[in-house]
Formats: sequence, C-alpha cells, structure tokens
Amino acid sequence: SQLYDFVVVANRLPVDKVGTTDDGEPLYETSPGGLVTALAPVMRSQHGAWVGWAGAPDEAGDAFDSDGMHLVPVELSAQEIEDYYEGMANGTLWPLFHDVIAAPEYHRHWWDAYAKVNRRFAEAAAAQAAEGATVWVQDYQLLLVPMMLREQRPDLRIGFFNHIPFPGYEIFSQLPWRKRVVEGVLGADLVGFQRRSDATNFLRACRRAAGATTRGSHVHVGHGEGRRTVHAAPFPISIDARGFEALASDPAVIERAAQVRTELGDPDAILLGVDRLDYTKGIRHRLSTFKELLEDGALGDKRVVLVQVASPSRERVKAYADLRDEVELIVGRLNGDHGTVGWQPVHYLHQSFPRDEMAALYLAADAMLVTALRDGMNLVAKEYVAARHDDDGVLVLSEFAGAADELHQAVLVNPHDIDGTKGAIVEALGMPKAERRRRMRALRRRVREHDVERWARDFLGALQDGAHAHDEEP
Ligand code: G6P
Repeated sequence: SQLYDFVVVANRLPVDKVGTTDDGEPLYETSPGGLVTALAPVMRSQHGAWVGWAGAPDEAGDAFDSDGMHLVPVELSAQEIEDYYEGMANGTLWPLFHDVIAAPEYHRHWWDAYAKVNRRFAEAAAAQAAEGATVWVQDYQLLLVPMMLREQRPDLRIGFFNHIPFPGYEIFSQLPWRKRVVEGVLGADLVGFQRRSDATNFLRACRRAAGATTRGSHVHVGHGEGRRTVHAAPFPISIDARGFEALASDPAVIERAAQVRTELGDPDAILLGVDRLDYTKGIRHRLSTFKELLEDGALGDKRVVLVQVASPSRERVKAYADLRDEVELIVGRLNGDHGTVGWQPVHYLHQSFPRDEMAALYLAADAMLVTALRDGMNLVAKEYVAARHDDDGVLVLSEFAGAADELHQAVLVNPHDIDGTKGAIVEALGMPKAERRRRMRALRRRVREHDVERWARDFLGALQDGAHAHDEEP
C-alpha cells in the first residue's frame, strides 16, 4: 500500500464513527476538541496520513479517505478504552497536567494499558511512513510514542506537540512513571508546547526526572553514537482564522445571529460560554459569578442572559459525570430563583453544534466568557475573535489559558477571583463602542496573522531546520 511522507498520530481521528447507515455504510461526525479544530485544515493541505482511534470500541476497519485526508483507524478494545483513555489519559495525566484541579489517580494497570496502546499507535504510524518521512505525534495520550517510533524507525523525523499545559515539577514529580514519560517524549527531535512556561517546565522535568543535561532550549540525550539533541520550544496553536471569518460573514450566519437574539427574548446583553463540559474550564466559577451579578444588582436594570454551550465530553469518567450533575444543579437553581414566566437568565445547552451555528452564537454575543482555571490554549477565544468581522464584542479571558499570552486586548481575569471577574463582566458590558472596536481590531489582527497554517509551518519548519543542523554536526 501507499506510504506517506507526512504522518500525524493523534489519539482521535478527526472524525468519530457514530453509527452505520441503512445500507451498512459507516456514519462519521467531526470529533470534539481543539486538537482536531487546529489540525484538520493543516492535514487537508499536506495530503498526509492521520493515524488515530475512531472513537468507539473495536472499530479497527480499513483505512479510508475523507475530506482530503487518509485516515488510518487504530483499534481499542472496551477494556483499553477504560484503562488507557478514560484511565491513564483522562484520570491521571489530564488532571495532573492541569495542576490537579481534580485529583489524579495512579493505577499500575492503567499505566500498563497506556504503554501497550502507545506501542500500537507507534507501530501503526511506522507502517504508514515512507523512508525519511516526518511523523508528528500529538498530545498527552501518546507521550511514549516518539521514543517507541524512534526505536523502530531511526530514519524518521519525529515531532511531538503537547496541546495541554506541562505542569511544574512539584506537580509532575507525583507521577510514578515520570522518568519513562520524559524519556518517551525525548524520542522526538522537536517538542512543541503552547506557552513558554510549559517548555520551561518540561526542560526542568528532563533534568530532574531523567537526569538529562539542557542548554537553553536544547536537551542532550544518549551517549556516544546515539547522542542526540532535542529542541523544546513554544509554538502557540491557532485556528483557520480566515476560514472562520468567512463562515461568520456568510449572510445566512449573520441572519441566524439576529434570530438568536430574538429567540432569547431580545435581551439587553448576551454573555456566552462555550466549552467541552470539563472541570478545567471554570464553568462553575462562571455560573457563581453570574449568580452574584444577578443577586447584587450590579447589572442595573439590564436584562442579561448567559448562554452556556457545554458539549458532552468523557462522560464515563467520574469527575466529568459529577461535574455535569453539579453544573445542572446550579443552572436549575439559578433559573428557578431568578427566572420568570417566559424568561430565564441561563440558557444551558448540553450539546455540540455545527460550526455555522457556533459562528452565529459568537456574532450574537456581547461578551464571551472564557474563564478556564487552566487551559493549554483555548481555541474558543480565538474563534470568537475571528468571527467578529463587525469589530464588536468583548472577550473576557482567563489569564490561566494559553491564549492570554497572545490576546492582550482581552479583558483578562483570574477566574478564582469572583469579585474581579464580576468587575470585568460589568466593564465588558459597559465598554464604550470605540474601545470595543479598538480592542477587537487588535485581537483580530493577532489571530489572523498567527493562524493555524503559520503554527504548522513554524513547527514543521523548525523540525526540518533541526534535521539540517543535525546533518552538519561533525
Ligand atoms: C483537548 C485535548 C485533545 C482532545 C480533546 C477532546 O483538546 O487536548 O487531545 O482530543 O480535548 O477530548 P476527547 O477526550 O474527547 O478526545
């Protein structure tokens, strides 16, 4: 079969298999999350292969082409989904890497499944890659893949990108398998992070957990013949900004935005939250803040609604099931206490929506609330900005999201500081039009110039430059 010069390896394929049609044809839906949002446009332009899981148990099946991409499914059994995906990836690494907002659990049988599944991904990628190909491994579910791949295929150029934060060593060092994780990642030639602080934390983990020596942003690994240098640096991810702006400029989307406003009962202001239903996103903090605003009259006589899109995520992991219960209890109470017949302050949607509906919501929202307690980047913030071709709307953004390093004209908040966040929302809703415009224009320029194409180009360019530097070494 055909071999590829460019291979992406990610836990998920960009589409999930959601069922079969009446004629037995598979039915696919776009997968959730920022990784797919960012990488799908890059892949379409590179004509590479994408190795990943199809999102359901025992769904290996043949490789297939979809939307300009060659998709290669990796099979996971129901038990592996439990131990590798729900367990080690999302019960251990996700909370650990997000500064233990939820308590990570450490189970040896989760780790064993994680290593076994990582090997399967590495083998599947090796089978797609042509001699000397570039393989780009994605995210915390596959931390061991770079080294496993290098062991099988020393001819490859291997990149790794960590989409989520990398924690400080005091936290990372809890991990019983910290040394193997660091060594696994160091199989790559180039390791990319969202923020500079993530790269710094990783370099420290290399020294402390793996005894490596570092110089600037370079890590020296191996001895003698096997001596290599690994580069670790920030490459902040982005979105297809022009594509998203074009979508939001579609007259049907603009009309839909006006209709949304009407359907919400023509409020004086619309606040919007859009997140996977995840405890890192600060949804509870956001709801508490809004509740206080309603109760202490800080919004004056303005009729303000909060639209909260919380797309279903990782529902079989207990912390997520618990979060859903809590959020729905809070929303129910809030609407019960503050609603009237025909009016409710919170519109909670436990659903995912197509991109055009999202674009309409962004256009309709007077202020976008991104109050993550910890977030690698947060592409929703960038989508909101890209959608606002009218140069209006205010972004309220957590300083704990990677996006805060770039989106300086947002109203930055510490979401733990309820009074501060209340102040920021009041400020956003009272901001004069000229200032909204000035800020949004600057934000839009930033997102347009630093789009996902540039992210991929910068990363892959640095991966290639590394190759040349390596060739030139005596
Ligand atoms: C985040 C992670 C991705 C992940 C996505 C959706 O964006 O960085 O790796 O794919 O969430 O989560 P899920 O568990 O549904 O793949």
